[in-house]
Amino acid sequence: MENSNKRSWAEPYKIKVVEPLKMTTREERNKALEEAGFNTFLLKSDDVYIDLLTDSGTNAMSDNQWAGMMLGDEAYAGSKNFYHLEDAVKKYYGYKYLVPTHQGRGAEHIISQILIKPGTYVPGNMYFTTTRLHQELAGGKFVDVIIDDAHNPASLHPFKGNVDLEKLDALVKKVGAKSIPYITIGVTVNMAGGQPVAMANLKDVRAYCLKQGIRVVLDATRAVENAYFIKTREKGYENKSIEEILLEMCSYSDACTMSGKKDCLTNIGGFLALNEWDVFEEARNMVVVYEGLHTYGGLAGRDMEAMARGIAEAVQWDHIRARIGQVEYVGDKLKSLSVPIVLPIGGHAVFLDAKTFLPHLKQTEFPAQTLAAELYLESGIRSMERGIVSAGRNSETGDHFYPKLELVRLTFPRRVYTQAHCDVTVEAVNEVFNRRNSIKGLKMVYEPKYLRFFQARFERL
Ligand code: F0G
Repeated sequence: MENSNKRSWAEPYKIKVVEPLKMTTREERNKALEEAGFNTFLLKSDDVYIDLLTDSGTNAMSDNQWAGMMLGDEAYAGSKNFYHLEDAVKKYYGYKYLVPTHQGRGAEHIISQILIKPGTYVPGNMYFTTTRLHQELAGGKFVDVIIDDAHNPASLHPFKGNVDLEKLDALVKKVGAKSIPYITIGVTVNMAGGQPVAMANLKDVRAYCLKQGIRVVLDATRAVENAYFIKTREKGYENKSIEEILLEMCSYSDACTMSGKKDCLTNIGGFLALNEWDVFEEARNMVVVYEGLHTYGGLAGRDMEAMARGIAEAVQWDHIRARIGQVEYVGDKLKSLSVPIVLPIGGHAVFLDAKTFLPHLKQTEFPAQTLAAELYLESGIRSMERGIVSAGRNSETGDHFYPKLELVRLTFPRRVYTQAHCDVTVEAVNEVFNRRNSIKGLKMVYEPKYLRFFQARFERL
């Protein structure tokens, strides 16, 4: 390990199965883009060359995981794969009780419905789309308590995901701790650019919340990536293993929701993990209604086995170092070309700063949506808008939320693309950058009611 630390992060695996990629012409891409209403979510995957839409469910599984798939115990109740998963969650995340769900939002739904009463407040370190919506649907009001640095793409704060304890305390003073069922802490913070939370901050938030009687719920979707940043950036953790750091992070919380489609190296799956018996009991009742019996939660036995094995692989140093090393490789190259990106470079993605990239576009002309469309047109590379479209509307006033961050996310699936794909991506972004002044914005012509970014349609201005 010591030796490998000095060398570059070269992929710690070799390729056993390949999936051919399809190249398209600019004409074909222009047609596909128009048919998709300039929304990369509406493109057919078949029309995409390098797919950087998301790191969610797009991971390559290992031979060990595929072998585990053959050992799926598809019993309706008490599948042995459930017990393997339960063991893995206890061992690596440290929670006592496990409720499997089909993916992360299934867990968010259940915990929100159990703990949030109408009229209460749920603080969080920036929002995530599905998490906030489930909190709102349960009658809660989300309140952002992330540090100000998180909203500034140029700030070099090493832990931009940190909770601002003064903001949290101000909320407690205003509404009272009894109106706050829990705080959600995302580790890392997706919408801030894959930014981590420091262990010291988790500890402080925990201490504060214990005093106030407020639960801490981690969104542990990318907690292993957060552990990598703690190891490499926070004093006192350089000699701790990822396993040790992950366990300590989770020890400062009462529960976690998890999208297994990210850190856990699977294509589907998630869970809710808890320490409180009462809440667990209610969750175990509810999962039967919405997901499936409490020993499968909407998953096949084989999916639970793949997730159990993926959890153990995810905390390996060689894996996580190469995973984040690849993202840093792309970010560093773009930075050297003066392409504006969110700094420091995040864990799962490089985020292009669309406001700076296309300064001549107003936010209501959807700069990030436009940039994602132009990158696809240029290269067939698919990325994702994370700006005003994703932020949605204020349910009280009906106006758009105007997030300070207007970003395009180049998200890297784990163990899927090679360094040469990274180079092509950098070249394509640079080509769009070189013709940025001639790029025009978009107008929205169709807007769905919930999570509009998935299905909204646009036309060129
Ligand atoms: N929390 C975070 C931080 C996420 O990034 C996601 C999903 C979820 C919760 C919900 O999990 O998709 O399994 O239901 N993020 C995906 C993305 C969709 O592309 O960032 P899910």
